[in-house]
Amino acid sequence: MLQGTRDTGNSRRGPTSNHTDSMTQQLDRLGDWQRSHDCGTLTDHQLGDEVTLMGWVATRRDHGGVIFVDLRDRYGITQVVFNPQHSATAHEKADALRSEFVIAVHGVVEQRPEGMRNPRLVTGAIEVNCDDLRILNASEAIPFQLDDQTEVGEETRLRYRYLDLRRTSMQQNLITRHRAYQATRGYLDREQFLEVETPFLIRSTPEGARDYLVPSRVNRGRFFALPQSPQTYKQLLMMAGFDRYFQIVKCFRDEDLRADRQPEFTQIDIEMSFVAEQDIMQMAESLTRHICAEVCELSLPEPFPRMTYAEAMNRFGSDKPDTRFGLELKGAEPAGRASDYKIFQSVLDSGGQVKGINAKGCSDLPRSRIDALIAFAQEHGAKGLSWIKHTDKGLEASIAKFFPDEAQQLLISCLESEPGDLLLLVADSPEMVAKVLGALRLELARQLELVAADTWHPLWVTEFPLLERDDEANRFVAKHHPFTSPMEEDVPLMESDPGAVRARAYDLVLNGNEVAGGSIRIFQQQMQEQVFRLLAIDEQEARAKFGFLLDALTYGAPPHGGIAFGFDRLVALLAGQSNIREVIAFPKTNKAVGLMEEAPGGVDEMQMRELGIRLR
Ligand code: AMO
Repeated sequence: MLQGTRDTGNSRRGPTSNHTDSMTQQLDRLGDWQRSHDCGTLTDHQLGDEVTLMGWVATRRDHGGVIFVDLRDRYGITQVVFNPQHSATAHEKADALRSEFVIAVHGVVEQRPEGMRNPRLVTGAIEVNCDDLRILNASEAIPFQLDDQTEVGEETRLRYRYLDLRRTSMQQNLITRHRAYQATRGYLDREQFLEVETPFLIRSTPEGARDYLVPSRVNRGRFFALPQSPQTYKQLLMMAGFDRYFQIVKCFRDEDLRADRQPEFTQIDIEMSFVAEQDIMQMAESLTRHICAEVCELSLPEPFPRMTYAEAMNRFGSDKPDTRFGLELKGAEPAGRASDYKIFQSVLDSGGQVKGINAKGCSDLPRSRIDALIAFAQEHGAKGLSWIKHTDKGLEASIAKFFPDEAQQLLISCLESEPGDLLLLVADSPEMVAKVLGALRLELARQLELVAADTWHPLWVTEFPLLERDDEANRFVAKHHPFTSPMEEDVPLMESDPGAVRARAYDLVLNGNEVAGGSIRIFQQQMQEQVFRLLAIDEQEARAKFGFLLDALTYGAPPHGGIAFGFDRLVALLAGQSNIREVIAFPKTNKAVGLMEEAPGGVDEMQMRELGIRLR
């Protein structure tokens, strides 16, 4: 009989632990056994058949001398019965089975007794009566339960990712991801797109995050960068005449991480020649619709609604608005001006804004929750958050006294308020007002549970500004990347008012998540040079960084444009997950480390010397 030493399994064990040692001598070989079925297939149709199944012991129960094992593989679970009356040897051997042992069983498919059927399992009507068991491998006691009900800390899950990935929910997430790859490839292939690989060891790319650098032994003192995206290469492929390109590709960005950002992530990267915005947006819409239909049988509206960047910022305080609920931002300048409230007055006088959100029907929100909203606004950079309750008696709040009748009426009409509502107001610079109210809107919707399940709101956001002010460096930087074309009608503003120039750029937003972004590119060298000048990139720097692209522009570059989808984000949405780590097999933590493999790690002195690198 097998005797497994049990331990808590929390320490990391190597392959030579006592337990595994004592087991290996007694393990069976697979020999000439072959799997006849997987664990998710057998039903009444196979009653009486002899079968051979292989998989992991999910659970083992001993019911008065008869042992029941739930055998699990990627396809499902099959109940296996070890009855001493049927095979004393198999039954005796099964006594040693523990969770996650790897076994092969041979037996006959039988109907489960009346009352023992499980209608929730495909295989719930049958069981396999085992006559021969092979124990192929043992398992230490696992550090956490693999069922989907047990809450497990993410650190533990990531440390033992190979166990975490055995859970049904994680397998489902990766299956969803697989379907999305196949749907993407199938669609783009049919639409004449060519899949082309581009290099990972490159010169720096211009996406605006920090690069991951790779030293080179054969080129000491010089560094490759890992691509933040294949942007320059896909443009060069258009210049090379490939017309329609795609790639499902890893991108690398050393940036601050969040639930929707990983240091290495995947894009569906696309570029097309002889096109305008319309063509790319239509293609990206059809692709999105196709993936959603194939993977989740979701049907999305046709066409996707569109909104300019200016409108999105004005109404939602965000360039990726979640339009599944209201709580829009409303301007309250007339009320602020008519009030005696000094804070509002001085913000307005210095070019700022007063805007608010009407939390409908929330006038009875307790003070503690309003205080929490004030703290939330302050965490997002607001100096304060003013609130006013609209009751049957009128407006009530400590600041109501600063609002004479006329100002009150203006406030009510600006915020479309009725008795029962709670008004939340911020006065600050337009950027801060958008940032704070944009975040507050999402938080309120979460607290008030305003988003109905299974609602899907895609939205195109267009006409982004071409440039963004970098106050620290006191210059403009590209909002998208420096190859984005300005809107034709704004070209005259490039000298006189560069901050007002809009770009031929578009983002695709799904339920408040930016799932794709792209633009029509500059394809004429003079325009590219003009944009570099606006970005204070002088000729020398431009040549050093992008000389190859500038040269290529002089040899007959076609008009072109493209888009890139955040594949992980799209899959996470389809899988109903709010964190992209749930749909990535081996993700990094928020601190950009791989907990399981302990990456990044140190390197030895010899390697560093070869690379010509010394750490300070
Ligand atoms: P952009 O930088 O907007 O554009 O990236 C395209 C999409 O990639 C996703 N994304 C990310 N996903 C996970 N983790 C990250 N760190 C991360 N960063 C971005 C987003 C985003 O919409 N070359 C251009 C595309 C083009 O112009 O064609 C680009 O990379 O969903």
